[in-house]
Amino acid sequence: MSQASQNLQLDKQGRLLHFLTIDGLQREMLTEILDTAEGFTGVSERTVKKVPLCRGKIVANLFFETSTRTRTTFELAAKRLSADVLNLNISASATSKGETLLDTLRNLEAMHVDMFVVRHASSGTAHFIAQHADPGVGVMNAGDGRHAHPTQAMLDMFTIRRHKGDFVGLRVAIVGDILHSRVARSQILALNTLGVTEVRVIAPQTLLPADARSLGVHVYHDLDEGIRDVDVIIMLRLQKERMRGALLPSEHEYFRLFGLTEERLAKADSGAIVMHPGPINRGVEMDSQVADGSKSVILQQVSYGIAVRMAVISMVIGSQNLQLQG
Ligand code: NCD
Repeated sequence: MSQASQNLQLDKQGRLLHFLTIDGLQREMLTEILDTAEGFTGVSERTVKKVPLCRGKIVANLFFETSTRTRTTFELAAKRLSADVLNLNISASATSKGETLLDTLRNLEAMHVDMFVVRHASSGTAHFIAQHADPGVGVMNAGDGRHAHPTQAMLDMFTIRRHKGDFVGLRVAIVGDILHSRVARSQILALNTLGVTEVRVIAPQTLLPADARSLGVHVYHDLDEGIRDVDVIIMLRLQKERMRGALLPSEHEYFRLFGLTEERLAKADSGAIVMHPGPINRGVEMDSQVADGSKSVILQQVSYGIAVRMAVISMVIGSQNLQLQG
């Protein structure tokens, strides 16, 4: 990440003003997010599932791309912090009538929105909004193009820490469409920052970025080989909506070579966990037996997503408040 965007998401004291990317964040900050989320997990089990930390604040969900898990868990997270939430129906809204993104932003700011949660098909949109937002307004990147999906990466780190304790000593394999995956990019940064022993990516050559090795990973093209002895397996969806032209012979062929089955899973460490950010394509990335099996923590990832999003929302709102007071 450039120095400029790093400065954009942190204030002079190193507090989070926005949450745009994992790039440039230190291990201490990632650990603070995980520890803060740990404190919020209990809120879901209370009779009154709310804490007053963001009472009186307005969070606007700006999802220019479809989403189920991310949008709803951001909404629940903000509501559990007692914020008011606006869900903008972007496809029916002003941008589709020709209003620019900046004009939409200015109008929402005129309504005194305190935070924007942004998902967009173009890389850099959340950064752009953060650059132009009023001081005191926080921006969350909920996925921008192929670039980054930092809250997904942090909920994945939370899931790993819950199941495996420490990051040191872990071997983690990320399998599938690395090329188009903002999730993989953010995960690789977070895993390396948190100090895992090894990150492996397992994919056909056509689904790997040209500079894959420079991301700090070991590259495998054979699933049986790459999965050997790993502690964590993260499966990714084939991002067909981002593929131009045929990068694969067929889904059937992909499953034959890169699909996770019980038989293949047996090659990983006996205590290995299986993760997937969702949505899953059963029979393409993995067998249903694996998706629903005892090693799968896929639905726990979704639950933990609420606590992790509560953590980053409350941290950003907290430091924006201090910034305004100072
Ligand atoms: C991911 C995304 O949208 O980037 N999903 C998610 O946030 N739960 C991954 C995907 O769409 O495959």
